[in-house]
Amino acid sequence: MVTAETIADLRVQLRAWRGAGDRIVFVPTMGNLHAGHLKLVQAAREHGQRIVVSIFVNPMQFDRADDFANYPRTRQDDLHKLEDASVDLVFLPTEAEIYPRPMEQMTFVEVPGLGSELEGAERPGHFRGVTTVVLRLFHLVEPDVAVFGKKDYQQLMIIRRMVDDLGMSVGIVGIETEREASDLALSSRNSYLTDAQHKQAAGLYATLVHCRDWIIDHPGEIETAEVEAVKSLELAGFRPDYISVRRQNDLKKPGVNDTELVILAAAWLGKARLIDNIELSLNPNS
Ligand code: PAJ
Repeated sequence: MVTAETIADLRVQLRAWRGAGDRIVFVPTMGNLHAGHLKLVQAAREHGQRIVVSIFVNPMQFDRADDFANYPRTRQDDLHKLEDASVDLVFLPTEAEIYPRPMEQMTFVEVPGLGSELEGAERPGHFRGVTTVVLRLFHLVEPDVAVFGKKDYQQLMIIRRMVDDLGMSVGIVGIETEREASDLALSSRNSYLTDAQHKQAAGLYATLVHCRDWIIDHPGEIETAEVEAVKSLELAGFRPDYISVRRQNDLKKPGVNDTELVILAAAWLGKARLIDNIELSLNPNS
């Protein structure tokens, strides 16, 4: 496994592989790797010959300084996991390599509409930070395909939109969420939970499952389902930011004829802000 800390080193290596006709598959991450990230790496194999993973804790996408400062950084451990997963190259840029000027002077990219609701409304500037860094990483790596998790459903939609709007040729692949036995979605921020909260945290997905089943039985009562789901999260000890039922294709509120839906949730438990989602299809004749 090759590691590159500079753009120059990254480009030399990639040019050689591309010259040999290899397809490059890219998995961007912020490190502190868990089985969810490794599932993306495994899926990457199916799309090309060379797998490139980046590890960069991107300051531009953090809306709270304490979250950026406390974000777990576990480089050696991460490198071992990537080596075991037969990754070809790990890009580990410094902040100066990604942001050669002060961050607020850097050119940015922002997806309107989709980027300003749900997570975008709760975390101002977050998606601008995500799209700006991902666009820069795409230009540095020039992948044929890039792999993202459905755990960050809105992020995946926004990246797809950015690629489409800017006429980029990279293919975007979305991968199902990896969960613990309790169905809690794996996340680096789960490490902010105490043991007791960790057990409680499974209640987030349980609420989503219950909400999904209730909507399937009562398709005309989506708003009631949302209100009830927020209440049940509160009863389970969470401080919910939102639970919202949206259309899968554009994350707009569903109309009566929409059948392909997704329920998205964000809720605090102690010091951790957890997000999760579940897709559902309604029977068009119901
Ligand atoms: P990070 O949170 O490290 O996640 C990297 C990738 O792993 C994302 O595509 C995310 O959706 C996916 N992922 C996280 N948890 C997962 C799980 N339990 N199952 C499956 N996939 C999971 O998302 C980011 O970093 C950053 O915003 C980034 C895209 C790297 C830009 O900085």
